[in-house]
Amino acid sequence: MNDMTPTREQRTAALEGLGCKRKRVEDVRFTQGKGNYVDDLKLPGMLHGDFVRSPHAHARVKSINSEEALKVPGVLAVITAETLKTVNLAWMPTLAGDVQMVLADGKVLFQNQEVAFVVATDRYAADDGVAKVQVEYEALPVVIDPFKAMAPDAPVLREDLAGKTSGAHGPRKHHNHVFEWSVGDRELTDAAFKKADVTIKELISYQRTHPCPLETCQCVCSFDKVKGELTIWGTFQAPHVIRTVVSLIAKLPEQKIHVISPDIGGGFGNKVGAYPGYICAAVASIVTGKPVKWVEDRIENLTATSFARDYHMTAEIAATKDGKVTGLRVHVLANHGAFDACADPSKWPAGFFNIVTGSYDFPVAHVTVDGIYSNKAPGGVAYRCSFRVTEAAYCIERAMDILAQKLGMDAAELRLKNFVKPEQFPYHSALGWEYDSGNYHTAMRKMMEATNYAALRKEQAERRAAFKRGETREIMGIGVSFFTEIVGAGPSKNCDILGIAMFDSCEIRMHPTGAGVARMGTKSQGQGHETTWAQIIASEIGIPADNIMVEEGNTDTAPYGLGTYGSRSTPVAGAAIAMAARKIKAKAQMIAAYKLEVHEDDLEWDIDGFRVKGLPEKSMSMKDICWAAYNSVPPGMEPGLEAVSYYDPPNMTYPFGAYLCVMDIDVDTGVYKVRRFYALDDCGTRINPMIIEGQVHGGLTEAFAIAMGQEIRYDEGGNVVTGSFMDYFMPTAVETPHWETDFTVTPSPHHPIGAKGVGESPNVGGVPAFSNAVNDAFSFLGSTHIQMPHDYWRNWKAAKSLGVLA
Ligand code: CDP
Repeated sequence: MNDMTPTREQRTAALEGLGCKRKRVEDVRFTQGKGNYVDDLKLPGMLHGDFVRSPHAHARVKSINSEEALKVPGVLAVITAETLKTVNLAWMPTLAGDVQMVLADGKVLFQNQEVAFVVATDRYAADDGVAKVQVEYEALPVVIDPFKAMAPDAPVLREDLAGKTSGAHGPRKHHNHVFEWSVGDRELTDAAFKKADVTIKELISYQRTHPCPLETCQCVCSFDKVKGELTIWGTFQAPHVIRTVVSLIAKLPEQKIHVISPDIGGGFGNKVGAYPGYICAAVASIVTGKPVKWVEDRIENLTATSFARDYHMTAEIAATKDGKVTGLRVHVLANHGAFDACADPSKWPAGFFNIVTGSYDFPVAHVTVDGIYSNKAPGGVAYRCSFRVTEAAYCIERAMDILAQKLGMDAAELRLKNFVKPEQFPYHSALGWEYDSGNYHTAMRKMMEATNYAALRKEQAERRAAFKRGETREIMGIGVSFFTEIVGAGPSKNCDILGIAMFDSCEIRMHPTGAGVARMGTKSQGQGHETTWAQIIASEIGIPADNIMVEEGNTDTAPYGLGTYGSRSTPVAGAAIAMAARKIKAKAQMIAAYKLEVHEDDLEWDIDGFRVKGLPEKSMSMKDICWAAYNSVPPGMEPGLEAVSYYDPPNMTYPFGAYLCVMDIDVDTGVYKVRRFYALDDCGTRINPMIIEGQVHGGLTEAFAIAMGQEIRYDEGGNVVTGSFMDYFMPTAVETPHWETDFTVTPSPHHPIGAKGVGESPNVGGVPAFSNAVNDAFSFLGSTHIQMPHDYWRNWKAAKSLGVLA
C-alpha cells in the first residue's frame, strides 16, 4: 500500500453512507430560492379558481345566483354542485369509506364549506367573482360539542345517510354516529378493575389542531383534449394514490393521468387527502381545455382542509397499591366533523389508537371508540404522527402521571416499574400489536442521569415548600414522558388504502460511469429524502452518496408507492431502497466473479467493491463493475445494472423515547418559561444523525405549539374563532425553547438496515412532556388534570380555580 492508497476508514467516509452527518443536498436549491413549488408553475393560458364558502356552519342552501359574478371582467365560469352532477362528481368518496360533498349540495355542514368554484383569467378576478356570487341560506341548528351530538333530539346533520343503520365500519347507533370500534378483552378488563387496589378515571381531551404547513394545499390541473390526458401538479404527500383516486372518481384511464408533486413546503398530514379544490380544478380544466390553478389561502387552510385530533378520551387504569398496572380501559369520543374523511388505513377507523397501552406491560386492556358527525370541517389527519398515535400516547402518558399522583409515587419510578422488559421483545400487547424491539429501562435511566432527575425533584420539593411559605409566586413542573410509537404502515396483512396494500418501492438504475438514479414512491416535504435515501444506497453498494440522484414525486417515472406520512418512509421505502440495492449488488457479484475469473462464492464484499477471499489484492470496485455491466457481462446475462423492489414490511417498527420538560409558571399571570427540554430518541439504526436532530427539533417545536397554545376552536354557532395566525398559535424562534437531544440505538430486527421511523416521534412524545410539566406544576395545589392547550390564560385560570390567586 503506498501513501496515496486510501485507508478503509477513508474509503468508508468517502461514501457518506449510514451514520454520516451528510449535508442536505436539497438545501443547495432551497437556500438560493431555487425551489420549485406548485405556485411557481405558470403555464400558457392558465386560469385560476377560487371558492365561494359558507359563512354558516349548518344551513340549507336555497339558491345560488351567479349572474353578477359572470359579469366581472375575467370571470369565465361559476361551477356549482349542479354543474358537477352532470359529470357525476358532486360528491366524492373519502379515504375512510364515507362520501363527501365536493360543492354544497342542498345544504352546508361546516363553516367555510365549499359552495361554488369561480374560474377566471387571474386570481384577483376570481376573488372579485367570489364576492359577487349570491347564495341564499336558511340557517339550521348547529352541533359542535361531541358530547351533545348523539342526544336523542340532536339535529340531523347527514340527510344523505337517512335510514342507514350501518356505515363503512359497522352499525350506527344514532343519526350523527359514524362508527363504534372496539378492541381488547372487555370481560377480563372489567375483572381486573373489580380486583384492583387502586383505580383512576379521567377525561383527557386532545383538542382539535391543524398541521398548517408553511405552503398551503394547491394544485394545477391541465387537461389535454387532443390526447385525453390530465396532468396534475400538486402538493401531494402520496402522488400515486392521488392518480388512482382521480382515475376511479373521474373515470379517466389511469395511464392518461400524470401526477407530479414538485417541491413541497411541509405536509405534516395536511397534504394526504383529496380535497374539493383538486376536483374542481380538474373539472374546470376539462371543461375549458385550459390549465387551472387552485391555491388555498391561510384561512381556508386552517378552516377547511383537514384537522387533527379532536379526541375526547376517558381513560381508566387499574393497579396494585405498590403501583403495578393490571388493566387499562379507554373510551374515546372522536369528533370527525361533517364527513368521515380521516386519513387512516381502510381497516382502522381509529387508526392505531390501540397502541394506547404505550410502553407498559398491561396484562389486559379494552378500548372503544365512537366516531360522531358534527358541524366542523372534515379531516382527521395524522398531524406529524402515525395514525391516532399521538392521541394514544398523550392519553396513556397523562393517565400514568395521574396514577402516580394518586399512589404518591414518582412519575419516573412508576414508569420504570411497568415498562415492557427487554427480554419480553418481540412483545405482544394486550391490544394486539407485536412490538419489534425496545430497551425502555436503558433509555429512561439515561434520560434521568443526563437531566439529573433526582436533583430536579429535590429542587421542586424545596420550591413547593417556599411557595407554601409565600416566598415565591412561581411553581415548578417536571414533565416526564416515555412514548412508544408504531410507524411504518404497513404490512399488507393489516394495512391498505382503498384496497391498495401499503407497500413501498424503489427503482435504482446504475449508469456506466458508476453513478445512478434512484426513484421511489415516497415524497419528501422537508424530511431530506434526497440526502438520506442516497446514504442507504451508498452503504449497500459502495457508490458515494453524491453519485446517486434521488427522484421522487413523478408518477410516470417512480414505481408505485403509497407516499410519505406517519414516519412510514424509512420503515417501508427505506427497506425497499436497501432491497433494491441488494439486487444490484447480487448482479454486480456475478459480473465481478466473471471478470475476476473466480466463482461468486469466492468473493466477499469490501466497502466499495468485491475482493477474492484470501487474495485481497484481487478485487473489483463497484464503479468498475458498473462499467462492466455495460460492456462485458457473463454469457447469457442481460446487460445493464438496474433493479426494482416493492417492499411489503412484515411488521411495523416501534421507535421510542424518553423526554423531560422542566417548566416554571407564574401563577399570577399564567406566564410559563420552559427551563429545559431533553429528548432522547431511539429510532434504531440512524441513517443521518444531523437530519434526525433536525426532525426532532421540528417535531418538538410542533409539540410545544400544540401543548402550549394551538387549538382550532369553534363557538357555539359553529364559527371558527381561530382561523388565522393572529389567533392560532404559531411559535417563532422567539418563543421556541432550546432543545437538548440524545439517543440510544435498538435496531429493528425485521428491517433490512434495522432502521425505524423518527419524524413523528418528537410530536408524539413532546406533547405529553409539556402537558405533564404543566400538570405536575399544579398537582401539589390539588389539581389532577388540566386540559390542553396550556396557554397563559388557561394557566392563570387554573391557578384561579385552585384558589391561589389573591
Ligand atoms: O416518512 P417520513 O419521511 O416523514 O419520516 P421518517 O421515515 O421518520 O424519516 C424522516 C427523515 O429522517 C428521513 O430523511 C430519514 O431518512 C431520516 N431518518 C434517519 O436518518 N434515520 C432513521 N432511523 C429514521 C429516519
